[in-house]
Amino acid sequence: MDRMKGKICVVTGGARGIGRAIVDKFAEEGAAMVFALDVNNSAFPELEAGKSNVRGAVVNVTDTAGIQAFVDKVVAEFGRIDVLVNNAGITKDGLIQKMSDDDWAAVIQVNLTGVFKMTRAVAPLMMASGSGAIVSISSVVGLDGNIGQSNYAATKGGVVAMTKGWAKEFARKGAKIRVNSVSPGYCRTTMIETVPEKVLEPIIAKTPLGRLAMPADIANAVFFLCSDEAVFITGQVLRVDGGLVL
Ligand SMILES: NC(=O)c1ccc[n+]([C@@H]2O[C@H](COP(=O)([O-])OP(=O)(O)OC[C@H]3O[C@@H](n4cnc5c(N)ncnc54)[C@H](O)[C@@H]3O)[C@@H](O)[C@H]2O)c1
Repeated sequence: MDRMKGKICVVTGGARGIGRAIVDKFAEEGAAMVFALDVNNSAFPELEAGKSNVRGAVVNVTDTAGIQAFVDKVVAEFGRIDVLVNNAGITKDGLIQKMSDDDWAAVIQVNLTGVFKMTRAVAPLMMASGSGAIVSISSVVGLDGNIGQSNYAATKGGVVAMTKGWAKEFARKGAKIRVNSVSPGYCRTTMIETVPEKVLEPIIAKTPLGRLAMPADIANAVFFLCSDEAVFITGQVLRVDGGLVL
């Protein structure tokens, strides 16, 4: 299929998990280039293998100068960025009385400030070209809250709020820039490897579709919102959670 034909795409946290599935999907759908940004480059050779339209790049979403250097390089080579997926995220869970200042700050830095910094660097290019699509990964936790995730829930709720504001801000002056968010339920990736099965089992039991998400489930929704098939959709938050309500 070629529903991303010709597009220059950037996916943060693209080395593994949900980000990796998004990179693979965009590449399969004929993107001109998909940049997988990550702090960890060990998966890049596998990610790029056999694909001329996938490239790994070491960029930390908290690093303003590193982000700008990356964007400048892409502009020099391709002249534009059509699609940005803000996917990089971390957890440092704990009940509030046990959550340190460092654990609070680390999650805010990556999940909230990182989304702001990436979007701040890329949105002006889209505004200059008059089009683009941005999808940021939130979470059901950002919509419904969760025990032991004050920091994470705050960032994911913040991503939803920024998405709605940006949908308005980036559509001024006739620009056709769409900004949406995808809120996954629990998804089988490294992020939840430390969550005990006894915590996951009741979640699966409460999920009408009877299982956790797989990375491809989330990637398919992100792909739709980034594609031209979603050309009249902006400012939305799409839950991809099998019907789970926390
Ligand atoms: N797995 C879930 O159950 C779940 C549920 C809801 C939302 N999410 C969200 O989906 C997104 C992807 O999660 P995942 O499960 O694939 O996680 P993951 O831990 O498997 O992958 C995250 C990737 O982001 C990268 N990363 C971390 N910090 C970074 C930084 N500062 N700069 C650049 N890259 C960085 C990591 O190296 C890793 O490759 C996150 O935003 C997460 O909060 C996950």
